[in-house]
Amino acid sequence: MSSIEPTEAAVRPNSLEASDKAYVVHGLTNLRDHLDRGPLIIESGKGVWVRDKSGREYLEGMSGLWCISLGFGEKRLIEACRRQMETLAYYHLTNHRSHPGVIDLAQKLVEIAPVPMSHVWFANSGSEANDCAARLCWYYWNAKDQPQRRKFIAHRRAYHGNTIASASLSGVGYVHEQFGLPLPGFLHVDCPDFYAAGLEGESEETFSRRLLTALEALIESEGADTIAGFFIEPIMAAGGVVIPPCAYLDGVQRLLAQHGILLVADEVVTAFGRTGEMFGTTTMDLEPDIIVCAKGITSAYFPLSAVLINDRVYQAMLTQSERLALFGLTMTYSGHPVGAAVAREAIRIYEDDNIVERARLMETVLLDGLRERLRASSIVGQIRGRGLLSGVQLVASRAPKRFFDPALRVGARVADAAENHGLFVRAIGDVIAICPPLTISEVELGQLIERLALAIRDIEATL
Ligand SMILES: Cc1ncc(COP(=O)(O)O)c(C=O)c1O
Repeated sequence: MSSIEPTEAAVRPNSLEASDKAYVVHGLTNLRDHLDRGPLIIESGKGVWVRDKSGREYLEGMSGLWCISLGFGEKRLIEACRRQMETLAYYHLTNHRSHPGVIDLAQKLVEIAPVPMSHVWFANSGSEANDCAARLCWYYWNAKDQPQRRKFIAHRRAYHGNTIASASLSGVGYVHEQFGLPLPGFLHVDCPDFYAAGLEGESEETFSRRLLTALEALIESEGADTIAGFFIEPIMAAGGVVIPPCAYLDGVQRLLAQHGILLVADEVVTAFGRTGEMFGTTTMDLEPDIIVCAKGITSAYFPLSAVLINDRVYQAMLTQSERLALFGLTMTYSGHPVGAAVAREAIRIYEDDNIVERARLMETVLLDGLRERLRASSIVGQIRGRGLLSGVQLVASRAPKRFFDPALRVGARVADAAENHGLFVRAIGDVIAICPPLTISEVELGQLIERLALAIRDIEATL
């Protein structure tokens, strides 16, 4: 043994940074650049703050990846996790098995659902849950003796995840082009971003009608009886914090109802207070058949996602599983007891600490604060948001409205400058997304706004 030890030691990287480059693959990263630039290693977090390996602190203005809604170091979640691990670290839901935590969580989710829901299917991530929701739509249509209803519609620029079906649902190039996706039958319609895509002189009403006409034409040309469902984020997060016009969403729902097409609300980002209501479905007045939740459901302390199903879908599943003698969907970690316990405790915190109401009140602090502080900036075109989810659209010119050449990477440069000022935000093209933990204080929100304003000023000065 001793003869090989020196050899191993000799080739082993001698720092965390070097080991990262040697062994870790990073998503949404240019892997070649990473070898030069190396990782930013985050070692700890408390509240809305994270600390890197060198001791530098950053305000986590994106809740990581839109997920750690209750902030870092939440003792009640840590304790719920520890308690459950001691009592029952694992069990499953197949072959009639169950456990108390998952029963309690499913009942609570049905109770707080924004529209009448009947049952809950559990998975581990938003992508998996959207995949399962697509499968449940197919199962539903098979049960209804309409197996030809296989197609799905979603928005261009929407992000629904990165498993094969959820990536196909997503309307972003980087999850398609590099992987030969979308799968056939995954259709996309224009993103309802009035600010970016409204024609000159067009009202929001006319814009909505134009998109609805295109949707109707697509449904007709594909054949309504071939379409299983439409996936919608109540507010599009990774698509650039796009708030669809109400007239558009109303019209979509009318069309879907007319053609019997299922509506799936992807609430992976919006559920659990993010938009100032417990569910984005309420904020945007939707009536989905299926609601998909992840991220905030456990405040990211444990990977768990949930697919809420209404009675229309559940009754069909019941009939079909009787016909086939089996409901054939299963996952080892579906309804994991630790995830269920953490989610249940997170929901208690959302309720006990009036987190949803806080997010609603903080919306004004955030939006008014941003508008006031960024008023003088000539490159800020629009500031939009609901609750504690907002987007700052950067433009080359406000009037007439002109967007930057994407090659200038203005958004990405602002996000990098924000990092230099100790703030994490995310650039989605030239939209700066802001999605802090819902527990953020008013003072911290002020710091977020100030740091972002400094970053925008830095980049504006270089243009
Ligand atoms: C709206 C939406 N749906 C689904 C997903 C995928 O979730 P996950 O990354 O947990 O698979 C995301 C991730 O950001 C999302 O924003």
